[in-house]
Amino acid sequence: MITSVELRQKYLDFFVSKKHKIIPSASLIPENDPTVLFTTAGMHPLVPYLLGEPHPEGDRLTSVQKCVRTNDIDDVGDNRHNTFFEMLGNWSLGDYFKKESIEWSWEFLTSPAWLNLDPKKIAVTVFAGDNDAPRDDESAQIWDELGVPENRIACLSKTETWWGPAGQTGPCGPDTEIFWWQGEGEYPSAKSSPGTDPDSWLEIWNNVFMQYDKTASGKYVPLKQKNVDTGMGLERTLVVLNSFSDVFQIDTFWPIIQKIQAISGREYIESANTVRSMRIIADHLRTATMIMADNIGIAPGNVDQGYIVRRLIRRAVRHGRLIGINENFCSQIAEAVIGIYKNIYSEVLRSHEFIADEIAKEESKFRNTIEQGLKEFEKLLAGFQIAFDKTGERITEISGKQAFKLYESYGFPLEMTLELATENGLTVEVEGFEHAFKAHQDLSRTGAEQKFKGGLADQGEMSVKYHTATHLLHAALRAVLGEHAEQRGSNITAERLRFDFSHPEKMTEEQKERVEDLVNYAIQRDYPVTFAEMTVAEAKEGGAMGLFEDKYGAKVKVYTAGDPNEMPSAHENTLTFSKEICGGPHVANTGVLGKFKIIKEEAVSAGVRRIKASLS
Ligand code: SER
Repeated sequence: MITSVELRQKYLDFFVSKKHKIIPSASLIPENDPTVLFTTAGMHPLVPYLLGEPHPEGDRLTSVQKCVRTNDIDDVGDNRHNTFFEMLGNWSLGDYFKKESIEWSWEFLTSPAWLNLDPKKIAVTVFAGDNDAPRDDESAQIWDELGVPENRIACLSKTETWWGPAGQTGPCGPDTEIFWWQGEGEYPSAKSSPGTDPDSWLEIWNNVFMQYDKTASGKYVPLKQKNVDTGMGLERTLVVLNSFSDVFQIDTFWPIIQKIQAISGREYIESANTVRSMRIIADHLRTATMIMADNIGIAPGNVDQGYIVRRLIRRAVRHGRLIGINENFCSQIAEAVIGIYKNIYSEVLRSHEFIADEIAKEESKFRNTIEQGLKEFEKLLAGFQIAFDKTGERITEISGKQAFKLYESYGFPLEMTLELATENGLTVEVEGFEHAFKAHQDLSRTGAEQKFKGGLADQGEMSVKYHTATHLLHAALRAVLGEHAEQRGSNITAERLRFDFSHPEKMTEEQKERVEDLVNYAIQRDYPVTFAEMTVAEAKEGGAMGLFEDKYGAKVKVYTAGDPNEMPSAHENTLTFSKEICGGPHVANTGVLGKFKIIKEEAVSAGVRRIKASLS
């Protein structure tokens, strides 16, 4: 058996041998990106560098990145879909391009010194070309030269073999995707390709040739630098290497399934239903645990990432009931998850108690109402039956209002009502639910809804200004409240910034005013904003803010508002207002920011406050 530990190491070793620098996994919660809730790919934290900012570690990078994607959540329960996964990635920031990228992927996959996979079972896709970009003949030729026969090089359209931008705008380009034959029987017939026979081919690696920036007007403008962005799925590749037919058999899942078997007293393979429920429980609680393990400390809640965590836990609880688990069990599953990752991601061990507590609280809360909610659901079904008996007409849809009642009174996330409806041959009037839901939520919730659509921040002018304002705010908060006021999260849109920081109590009016004044003072001073590359130790010595943990690579970028040679101090008449470890980008001078205003200061969770502020 090849383990996850071995595969991570092999991948990094291989790319180090090709002169790449290893960068650590970034947080699952994106910093300074308003348009997505989670880091969805290894490229995500690298967007500024893909757009041309220099990276402190150079132009060849490799990493193992924790990722969460919720768009495939309905597919979880089959043999291959997960909401949390690890992405093995390598990047060229304007350095090598298609030839090296493809040749190295091939070498890593097929060389006896590395993964030693059978080349005959590999097929690839290349971009067929359209009005935005030409056919990718170059990639096709490289594959041909490596010996991949023509019938296993599928030329496909943009929907299949193009990647990004992750949102409306941003870096993107044609990709070449690498697939492994998982079909029945012998090695694939001449007719089978990932384009015509998608069920028989498992995508394991995606090499994106990022050469365009999609603009807000929908144009594809060539990027200043041509990049390579590849992503290989750790979980899926382990399936391939171990000849498994099911991703839940790999070593970052199987101990979780075993735990669920022990708690429920049932066998994984007892029936199609137990398999599905156990997979959903394992996937969802693994994801919830990894989100909560992040340094930011997300707890189950009603907005943003917290709401996703809540949905994941609640769905797991319901599937637990379906396999006969009627007592709290989720923190025991979380323990199994922690056991798997504690030596890989140190934050998992650090957050151990927080996770166990929060999961148990959420589970108890939900268990208090789920019984009643399910009864209410039964009542609905009975009502539908009575109506049918009376009128002869069958009601097949749960109204938006009814779904909303299940949400509001019994804590049923919409997905759960949808799932229950499907199990009973019914549909849900989703629009009506959303209508009622929106009417009920405040503005911030609506903002979160938009974020579900996904996408990376455009690097628009306003976002850059807000990013710099965030640094000034961070420095001002520490000056006014004390050193304990540390960044816990940040989110920027073109209209406002949002900044979460640790502080035990509500800020007073005077404190807010003082912070506002200090930031406006820093803007008036028109400090130059510059960066320098250095080691973490040097950054620390120079007074830079940052989480001084294993989050950074050997070299970091430090952005300074003011004189980089001075120690920072956020007060009037100082030479240096703020210094912070950060990827950028930032404005050149603080004077362009305009007027800074705090709109709101509120609690996010115990010990964490949130400020929303605008520039005008
Ligand atoms: N960004 C690409 C993906 O997510 C490759 O890393 O597939």
